[in-house]
Amino acid sequence: MTTQRLEADSPEKFRRAVEAAAALLRQGQVVALPTETVYGLAANALDPVAVRRVYEVKGRPASNPLIVHVASLEMARDCVSAWPETAERLARAFWPGPLTLVLPKADSIPPEVTGGGNTVAIRWPAHPFIQAVILECQFPLAAPSANLANRVSPTTAEHVLAQLNGRIPLVVDGGPCAVGIESTVIDLARQPPRILRPGMIHAEALAPLLPGLGQAPHMPLEACAPASPGLFPKHYAPAAPVRVLSWTSPEHLCQQLRKLGADPAAAHVLAHTTIPQKGPFADVWVLPRDPVAYARALYATWHRCDQQGARLIIMEAVPEESAWAGIADRLRRAEGLASPPA
Ligand code: TXA
Ligand code: MG
Repeated sequence: MTTQRLEADSPEKFRRAVEAAAALLRQGQVVALPTETVYGLAANALDPVAVRRVYEVKGRPASNPLIVHVASLEMARDCVSAWPETAERLARAFWPGPLTLVLPKADSIPPEVTGGGNTVAIRWPAHPFIQAVILECQFPLAAPSANLANRVSPTTAEHVLAQLNGRIPLVVDGGPCAVGIESTVIDLARQPPRILRPGMIHAEALAPLLPGLGQAPHMPLEACAPASPGLFPKHYAPAAPVRVLSWTSPEHLCQQLRKLGADPAAAHVLAHTTIPQKGPFADVWVLPRDPVAYARALYATWHRCDQQGARLIIMEAVPEESAWAGIADRLRRAEGLASPPA
């Protein structure tokens, strides 16, 4: 299969790409589309055969459920069997946007989407392209991130092609993703509501609208775990082992690397506050100090490290603040996959 790539950077190209994507989706095919968080691998959420194809293309275990993308509150309500007051409040505050709500599923949602479970994850994405495709199709789109299982999510069309070229008929280029890491996932199907996956809509922003969450502000988010397979520490990792460290000087960083048995000359260092000279390291990448800008840049930098064949990635630790919680989570997961640096 050859993968067609369509641009959407003029009204005409946008319209043509919407029509091409919708035509393929109506045929039960799987296409890669931009969202504001990361690129998604989309299929008709109401078509079990199309959904199974998503798992095939990604190499993802069928037990890990998909997020269903909608383009209106009505469409969201059609996907669930209960729409509590908290869902209405969160949706009105944060949709369209990088927030996913887990709720009891409607009968119309096939078990293929939900990993066989009786809840469904719903999100109304903010990117105008996927919104236009959903409205054109008039059905919701099941879409995981458009990467192979356990790899870094794509934030550009190039990242999608690097992993899925030849496996899907179409990728639409909607530019670099504005958010850059995956949406915050909240479980509203149980009491009290819990954050299943932190993201850029963080606990402090959610607390005023979610009293249950607010009452336990110090609850470690990973502790409220395994209802969501995305919580297992094996996602979002670049090919090279990742270590998260803090240092006061390049010498201090070198000391720590040697203690770990790692060669500084093998280390790609990704720093945002204490930025060392390239000196003894393989490379030094500067990330933004601001969490919103940092999230936007993180995966692209990891993809570049992969392309350069980095052997070890050293991440400077990020602040323990809720605005950084989604980023800290992705760094921990990437580190969890790491084999000892050599
Ligand atoms: O930003 C995003 O959320 C991106 C874009 C494409 O929308 N999508 C994304 O999908 O990250 P994916 O499949 O890579 O991650 C979905 C996460 C997984 O951690 C999954 O376990 C969780 O959502 N999830 C999906 N349905 C669930 C459910 N019914 N209950 C609990 N967790 C669920
Ligand atoms: Mg993913």
